[in-house]
Amino acid sequence: MRLLVTGGAGFIGSNFVQQTVRERPDVRVTVLDALTYAGDRSSLAPVADKVELVEGSITDAELVDRLVGDSDLVVHFAAESHNDNSLDDPSPFVQTNLVGTYTLLEAVRKHQVRFHHISTDEVYGDLELDDPAKFTPTTPYNPSSPYSSTKAGSDLLVRAWVRSFGVQATISNCSNNYGPYQHVEKFIPRQITNLIDGIRPRLYGAGLNVRDWIHVEDHNTAVWAIVERGRIGETYLIGADGEKSNLEVVQTLLEIFGRPADDFDHVNDRPGHDMRYAIDASKLREELGWTPRYTDFREGLQATVDWYRANEDWWRPHKAAVEAKYALSGQ
Ligand code: NAD
Ligand code: DAU
Repeated sequence: MRLLVTGGAGFIGSNFVQQTVRERPDVRVTVLDALTYAGDRSSLAPVADKVELVEGSITDAELVDRLVGDSDLVVHFAAESHNDNSLDDPSPFVQTNLVGTYTLLEAVRKHQVRFHHISTDEVYGDLELDDPAKFTPTTPYNPSSPYSSTKAGSDLLVRAWVRSFGVQATISNCSNNYGPYQHVEKFIPRQITNLIDGIRPRLYGAGLNVRDWIHVEDHNTAVWAIVERGRIGETYLIGADGEKSNLEVVQTLLEIFGRPADDFDHVNDRPGHDMRYAIDASKLREELGWTPRYTDFREGLQATVDWYRANEDWWRPHKAAVEAKYALSGQ
């Protein structure tokens, strides 16, 4: 099988490619990645001799057409992915998340290639802290940020191309991922690398916002379950019942590092900050028989801390610039 992975040099995409090469020797993997600040060739180093990496943008229609025409399946991870960046400058989010997804859809339509679209639970907006509800595949879309609104728009494009043109596509909306190869701009790697550097963790606002954490490997086993057994045109929510407040996450990290539970700083809150995300993944579990492997968050976090300790060469080049940028907004 010829697989095209967009965004395969980013956090989740590189884990997906490594896992695929390890477990599925019958799959020939090509990665299309623009190698933006978030993409790193070295995230594919362990499988570099088994994967073709094409440096280019998903908005380049000619390149996309050629690569899609040479594939049996496209798994589409490429995106601008960070909410804080989307508040500074929404423009690349519109280009990559909307125009890029449109460009891929036109190519899979022309070549009749199976397509899986990776999306986020943020398309549903947020929940109150005391609301017993969770997001389900029928929750109305209500995105808050430029990032989440462009992801919501990209999901709607996929749905329309399925219905209007018969494109063979599925969609997944996943909760917050953690694990190796995540950029240091994101919450968990930022705090781990702060702690390695002896800097106090930084909590936006009161730190009461809740995210539903899932290990990246569990996200990716779910993606394969949907690709192999999912029904065309369907949306599957991916989550592993991992709700934690940001404060709880920071305190678990402080405990892992042997530091006092109050050894962190509150910093400026994110404008429009979503309060809580929570996924009801029963459709994925019941229909496709998927279960997560990482059910102990502390253990998964410890393994992630160990990875960042052992792979300083990977993250160190980005750390100072990320912190300088956060400092400009008092974060
Ligand atoms: P990331 O920012 O780590 O990686 C994105 C990758 O896309 C990078 O390698 C980047 O170079 C590439 N890219 C960006 N613009 C491109 C373009 N125009 N053409 C080709 N490549 C381009 O992101 P991530 O956290 O790995 O997220 C991957 C996908 O998963 C995204 O679609 C995101 O919306 C979704 N998602 C992420 C999470 C999460 O917690 N990180 C949760 C749910 C869904
Ligand atoms: O829910 C899925 C989404 O999860 C994905 O679609 C996004 O691509 C991914 O970036 C993530 O979005 P969040 O905005 O939830 O993730 P982030 O890591 O930026 O922040 C997680 C929480 O931590 C959020 O409530 C903001 C807070 N935070 C973040 C940083 C960087 C802090 O308190 N301090 C920080 O330093």
